[in-house]
Amino acid sequence: MSTSKNKVGILLSGRGSNMIALVKAARDPSCPYEVVLVASDKPEAPGLAWATDQGIATWSLSPKGIGKPAYEAALDKALRDAGAETIALAGYMRLISDGFVGAWRGRMVNIHPSLLPRYKGLDTHARAIAAGDPVAGCSVHVVTEELDGGEVLGQAEVPIMRGDTPDTLAARVLEAEHRLYPEILAEFVTR
Ligand code: GRF
Repeated sequence: MSTSKNKVGILLSGRGSNMIALVKAARDPSCPYEVVLVASDKPEAPGLAWATDQGIATWSLSPKGIGKPAYEAALDKALRDAGAETIALAGYMRLISDGFVGAWRGRMVNIHPSLLPRYKGLDTHARAIAAGDPVAGCSVHVVTEELDGGEVLGQAEVPIMRGDTPDTLAARVLEAEHRLYPEILAEFVTR
């Protein structure tokens, strides 16, 4: 029954391949979540156009000009108006204020392209290669005030091959992300 599914709002800033993976997984009748809104700080984000094409409700607003507090208040309202109970960040490239994190505490998750706690922040694949790590990967974690610092809910490892560049490694990790995120989000909304 769709009414018993957890309602998820997805935030993105770019191409949205993880959002697409989450939406496709949600089409399985046994999936415990449904996507009620795809929202973005970038009105031109390709992911938004894909979601619109699929008939999914979308929302976007650029924070430029109006400032972060007004932007986040509008985002929060859009999510609540859509009935969202959980937020899944999927390539959302904007730092989130402590107030917003507090308002959604324990109900917001993110996917990060490293084996946390290693390589928080940006350029994760280049840093893993430079360190000579044998494996890279991705993590789904709860969002807290600390950047990429909340409880890790699940991880997938991806071997680093000889000759890997940040781009080739990123492409393989991304495939793992698309498998990991729907699985972990489904677990998270039912725990
Ligand atoms: C992914 O690598 C994700 O781990 C990171 O941002 C990227 C988003 O890619 N947080 P996409 O927009 O989901 O394709």
